[in-house]
Amino acid sequence: MPQPLTLIQPDDWHLHLRDGAALATTVAHSAKQFARAIVMPNLKIPITTTELAMAYRDRILAAIPDGLAFSPLMTLYLTDDTSIEVIKRAGNNKHIVALKLYPAGATTHSASGVTDIECTYSILEEMIEFDMPLLIHGEVTDPSIDVFDREKIFIERHLEPLTRRYPELKIVLEHITTRDAAEYVEEGGETLAATITPHHLLLNRNAMLVGGIHPHHYCLPVLKREVHRQALVKAATSGNPKFFLGTDSAPHDTSSKESGCGCAGIYSAHAALELYTEIFEAAGALDKLEGFASFHGADFYGLPRNKESISLVKRPWVCPESYQFGDEGVLRPFRAGEALDWTLYANLHRTIQ
Ligand code: DOR
Ligand code: ZN
Repeated sequence: MPQPLTLIQPDDWHLHLRDGAALATTVAHSAKQFARAIVMPNLKIPITTTELAMAYRDRILAAIPDGLAFSPLMTLYLTDDTSIEVIKRAGNNKHIVALKLYPAGATTHSASGVTDIECTYSILEEMIEFDMPLLIHGEVTDPSIDVFDREKIFIERHLEPLTRRYPELKIVLEHITTRDAAEYVEEGGETLAATITPHHLLLNRNAMLVGGIHPHHYCLPVLKREVHRQALVKAATSGNPKFFLGTDSAPHDTSSKESGCGCAGIYSAHAALELYTEIFEAAGALDKLEGFASFHGADFYGLPRNKESISLVKRPWVCPESYQFGDEGVLRPFRAGEALDWTLYANLHRTIQ
């Protein structure tokens, strides 16, 4: 048996769990690895109030398998109509930790998102009072901007003015995909951080477009050139506390991915920590994995670090082709049917000897 790799238990700082019967699959996968997760609020009916967030939290808690501990950290969906009162109620609720800003129309279920960031300034000022972070989907929706440039232009047009106006506002630029974003976050103030997904660390845009179109590699922000992937690996494995783990695991039923107009989202929660371990090993930076996965996010959010630990072993296993998704659907996970190098100790039974 190879030496296990043991870490303080990690957290996922950006996760889509969906709702209803789908929670049986998504919550079980995340709870097996992560102690906590920041739960995204972009349900079909967006989570815009404390009441909706608490009811959603209860449904998530009810889906945690026996014997596992998992704390969902709830977020509210910022809209043009979010009121100061909504922020005050959320800020006084210990289960709600952040607000999510989707530019209207940027991605899945973002129709209710913000149409003009400047109109939210009074809300952001109230968030500063409560030290609540703003989590940003950083892409412009301007149809004249090429989809591969939307993150870079968002930084120039919106993030730069925002950080200059509110240097004390904690901001997480979510799922960064470019060298420009990595450099901007690195050079920014202490209140600016970023999450990085396993798929943006492992794939460049060829994985989506070469040899046919690969809808299961379509996500937003879209995969970028190799030079950007390499910059993300450098940032994630640098030990810089501004970068931390956020899978953006975003399940969709296979039928809505394999479609004439397929949904954006990659499901990686089934093997998230194993994928990140593979990335850090390939970069010769396994010693930096624990900081990225288990410490930097908690420190940024001002939450205690976890106490339990988790182990992985370098033993291959083959990822299933699909998982059940809700009562009738299935989802195709990242690396479906392919071998992964690392396995969670708790999952050794599935290891191929
Ligand atoms: O690929 C994505 N899927 N990006 C997002 O921003 C949203 C997510 C989803 O909810 O499906
Ligand atoms: Zn997301």
